[in-house]
Amino acid sequence: MLSLVVLISGGGSNLRALLEASQDAEFPARVVAIGADRDAVGLSLGEEYGIPTFTVAYPAYPDRETWGDALLEQIRAWGPDLVVLSGMMRLLPPRVVAALSPNLINTHPAYLPEFPGAHGVRDALAAGASETGASLIVVDNSVDGGPIIAQERVPIHVGDTESSLHDRIKPVERRLLIEAVLDIANGHVDLKELSRS
Ligand code: GRF
Repeated sequence: MLSLVVLISGGGSNLRALLEASQDAEFPARVVAIGADRDAVGLSLGEEYGIPTFTVAYPAYPDRETWGDALLEQIRAWGPDLVVLSGMMRLLPPRVVAALSPNLINTHPAYLPEFPGAHGVRDALAAGASETGASLIVVDNSVDGGPIIAQERVPIHVGDTESSLHDRIKPVERRLLIEAVLDIANGHVDLKELSRS
């Protein structure tokens, strides 16, 4: 059984998908803790599913490195096999990436390397693209530039807003995440190997 710590900043819809998948006894992964950098709405899923939560509030620390060290300490307390950044809207300091790599993955609402960064959905719209996508990557010290585990195209419709487009991307992100966790747990995806290539 693959143990997961999931880090969020927002509503946690990807997290909910993982928690729902884990209700199936056959699913080879379990969320052991949920962490956030703020009072994220998605933390309520912890109570709903009986999963412990922790918050390492970014403004409570003097700099990114100190915040990252505190976050790492919390994560390590759970000894997870894999850490999932599921809408955690902060760059992790290199020390944290080095400590967790390659067992650290991130979902992104664009077809990387197109539209990296915090506004992937908005940027795809602003560029006038006719399609964008969803990607799941191994986290490295770049901004959304790590090895791609899986990705899929999503069309952009005339009249789309950031929110209508994001709503079309999110179900794809969720499916990619569940499939990737399955593949990692079953050994069909080797994160170490992916990170070497
Ligand atoms: C996802 O689209 C994620 O890729 C992006 O923010 C969204 C998080 O949504 N960075 P949620 O918190 O899982 O609902």
